Amino acid sequence: MDQYRPKLHFTPAYGWMNDPNGMVYRQGSYHLCYQYYPHSKDWGPMHWGHAVSADLLHWEALPPALEPCEQGMIFSGSATLNEKGDIVAVYTLHGDAERQGVAFSRDGIHFEPCAENPVIENPGIHDFRDPKFFRVPGESCVRLVLAAGDRAHFYCSQDYIHWQKTGEFGPEGNHLDGVWECPDLFQVRDEEGREHWVMLVSMTPNIIQYFVGDFADGAFRLTQRLDHAQLLNPGGDYYAAVTFDNVPAGRRVLMAWMNDWRYAGKIPTDPHRGAMALPRELGLKRINGAWVLTQAFAAELFEAAQEPEMLDEEQEVGQTFLVEAYAEGACCLTLRNEQGEELHFGVDDQNCLFVDRTKAGISDFFEGFAQRLSAPRLMEGSCKFSVVYDVAGIELAADDGTLNYSVQVFPRAPYTQLLCENAEGTVSQLN
Ligand code: FRU
Repeated sequence: MDQYRPKLHFTPAYGWMNDPNGMVYRQGSYHLCYQYYPHSKDWGPMHWGHAVSADLLHWEALPPALEPCEQGMIFSGSATLNEKGDIVAVYTLHGDAERQGVAFSRDGIHFEPCAENPVIENPGIHDFRDPKFFRVPGESCVRLVLAAGDRAHFYCSQDYIHWQKTGEFGPEGNHLDGVWECPDLFQVRDEEGREHWVMLVSMTPNIIQYFVGDFADGAFRLTQRLDHAQLLNPGGDYYAAVTFDNVPAGRRVLMAWMNDWRYAGKIPTDPHRGAMALPRELGLKRINGAWVLTQAFAAELFEAAQEPEMLDEEQEVGQTFLVEAYAEGACCLTLRNEQGEELHFGVDDQNCLFVDRTKAGISDFFEGFAQRLSAPRLMEGSCKFSVVYDVAGIELAADDGTLNYSVQVFPRAPYTQLLCENAEGTVSQLN
């Protein structure tokens, strides 16, 4: 029991969790709701679980924000604040068809579904879900984007109740197969301080594509057309990533479900299933003539780090720590336990960032879980990367966050040793 409960990655005490939902900052607290089934660690009638945190790392559980009703289960959605400072949530009512509903919360704990629900009817599209609020600076209306089969639809409203469709994006510009889910649309500042619109789309079963463009006349359109897809993460356990609303100082903070639908219902954790990935802060960097979304760990993580110690060839480690590494060429770090299980990660001689979990622990619940993940770096030369290991998962942010991995592992005994070949840096416990 609880052998695989991470310390800084959010997990529900019991039951099933998937997508992050309703993420908004209000009065000093980050609110995180999530797809939740409290009565079993298998997916079931969806609720919105709810937790709050002052630092995005240490969470306090609150009662579920929303429960299934006669209009359907409560599928994914988002939250924002109205002019009174109340939280407004928008979500999919998943019944015979998928329709959108809203709920209001004055105290940030209890949510009252709106009497006018559903506020957006289904237009005859099977997959019509996951509304995400966004705003255009200077406008009085609130907008949302939702996933509609193989594209996104945009709506706007003055009162959160009456919605008007303003446009669509896709499928042109899309390079991949899969049903569109959990879209997000927001502005990100590039290195020179200019804002660009970026759209994220999760695509079944396990990838997240992003697009760089502009939002005008009620629709998103591409300004960066490439002959290949841009992915948030080149594989591993990362899905349904969306950003917090209303974060101070213009920060764009992203959080994802650290899992993969292909085996999410089989992972050997107990009494819960599902963890959130660590918060990431988004930026844009120009590489080889294209804008690339960067995802560094949020600054709060580095504040949770204790006294750094220099990396040695071999050292003892706890179950939750941060490594800041620097390598001139190929390098390999290894976590090992007393049973001889090993998790390897680093940069290989093909200039790829890799995580190798082939011999890292339990893997028989899904063929293909025991895999070596690797992806080419977008940069040449020396590589700087941050690594967080937290009980049952590892996350990497390399080359200013231009290449990232979030990967679950289930060692039969805790890793206690960290070996380091050809890299320099520090290791710090995380509290
Ligand atoms: C994405 C998703 C959403 C849906 C929810 C249901 O992981 O399939 O599209 O709203 O999960 O739990």
